[in-house]
Formats: sequence, C-alpha cells, structure tokens
Amino acid sequence: MAHIIGLIAQKGGVGKSTLSRLIACEFAGQGWAVKIADMDVSQGTCAEWCRLRQQHGIEPDIRVETFGRVAQAISDSDRFDLVVVDGAPHATAATLEIARTSDLVIIPTGLALDDLRPGVMLAHELVEKGVQADKLVFVLTRVGDSLAAIEDARQFINRAGYAVGVAELPERIGYQRAMDAGFAATETTHRSLNEKAEAVAQDIADKLAGLVMDREVA
Ligand SMILES: Nc1ncnc2c1ncn2[C@@H]1O[C@H](COP(=O)(O)OP(=O)(O)O)[C@@H](O)[C@H]1O
Ligand SMILES: [Mg+2]
Repeated sequence: MAHIIGLIAQKGGVGKSTLSRLIACEFAGQGWAVKIADMDVSQGTCAEWCRLRQQHGIEPDIRVETFGRVAQAISDSDRFDLVVVDGAPHATAATLEIARTSDLVIIPTGLALDDLRPGVMLAHELVEKGVQADKLVFVLTRVGDSLAAIEDARQFINRAGYAVGVAELPERIGYQRAMDAGFAATETTHRSLNEKAEAVAQDIADKLAGLVMDREVA
C-alpha cells in the first residue's frame, strides 16, 4: 500500500502543484514508484507539466493522472510506493477527502495574514471534522528575504496549534522557469535554489517517515 501525501489549500497559487512536483521528483529520484494524482481538473497543472517532461525526456519520469475523486485517485495505489495528491483550490468536499485519506497533509502558505488565516481556518475545519491535527503540516512558500516575516508566520501557525516545516521555499523566478520547462524546483539551473528546494523535500520526507513510524508503533 502506497504512502499518501496530500497537498491542500483554499487558495490558488500558494504552491500546491509546485510542492507536489518537488516531492514526486525527490522520492522518484530515491527509487520510489511515485504517482501524482492531479485533482485540479480545470487547471491540470501537473498533467501539463508531465507532458512537457516526457516531451523533453527529463528523468526521473513521473506518472501523473487527473482525477475528480480521491477514491479513484488511490484505487491503484498498491502499485506505487507514494501517491502525491495535488488538490484543487475551493474544493471543500474533495479537500476533506484528501485530508482523511493522506498519511501526511501539506498546507502550503505564503507569509501574509491573507494567506495564513485561510490556511489555519482550513486546518481547524479539518480537525473539527475528525482529521488528526498531527498529520497537518504547513510549509511556507514563495517567501521573501525577511527572516522576521518568516519567523512571524511560523509563530502564527504554531500559536494556532499546528506544525510548520523547518525549511521554506523562496519566491524566485528560477523556480517558475524550471517548472515552465518541465523541471521540478530541485532541478533548476541554480545550485542554491536546488539546495533550498531539496531542504524542503527532505523536511517533508522526514515528517512522512515520522508519521508512518508512529502509526506502525500504535
Ligand atoms: N517559490 C516560487 N517562486 C517562483 N514562482 C513560484 C514559486 N512557487 C510557485 N510559483 C509559481 O506560481 C504559480 C502558482 O504556483 P502553483 O504551485 O501552481 O500553485 P497552486 O497549485 O497552489 O495553485 C505557478 O506559475 C508557479 O510556477
Ligand atoms: Mg495547483
């Protein structure tokens, strides 16, 4: 049975598809059989990216399929080691389904309160509906250079009762360019950008390993 990582947010443009592609490439690079389930049927961001990737022969090859329902998305999950479920914005029912099904739920957010508030509200709503709070992890994305702003965002999330990743993804044109050409955030032409993205992926891999270990012990 595959591990499942879900990426959700009420807002669009916060980095769900960016992190999905990053996570998929990092695990696939370690030899895992990985599939991205693209739940954003109208945008099909990952599906389009996959097409580009295949066209340019970029390795590792990532399988991407588009689905309207989570149950469908994971119906063949026994054929994979990891399924990355890339959620659609404003998809309340599907978002809850993703959160319930996933071993680890990533909520990407920018640093502005306009991003943080809906993120925390979403987490509260999920917990109210029975999702375990400890599998929800916020990841700071598209951050600027202000360490104070990053720290403020971390505190906001922690005070609300949730975990936040130790690594954050900066806003850089290099990431956008890479993804526009079928590459992931770890596959840009800039080593320092790749290293920052690798740190985010490693953090997510560590969180998944921790949660899976806790579940096996329980
Ligand atoms: N860290 C970043 N730096 C620069 N551009 C980014 C970054 N993260 C995302 N983008 C760009 O922002 C847009 C939205 O990101 P995406 O991951 O598709 O968001 P979502 O899936 O949450 O809607 C995409 O065009 C992507 O290339
Ligand atoms: Mg998306």
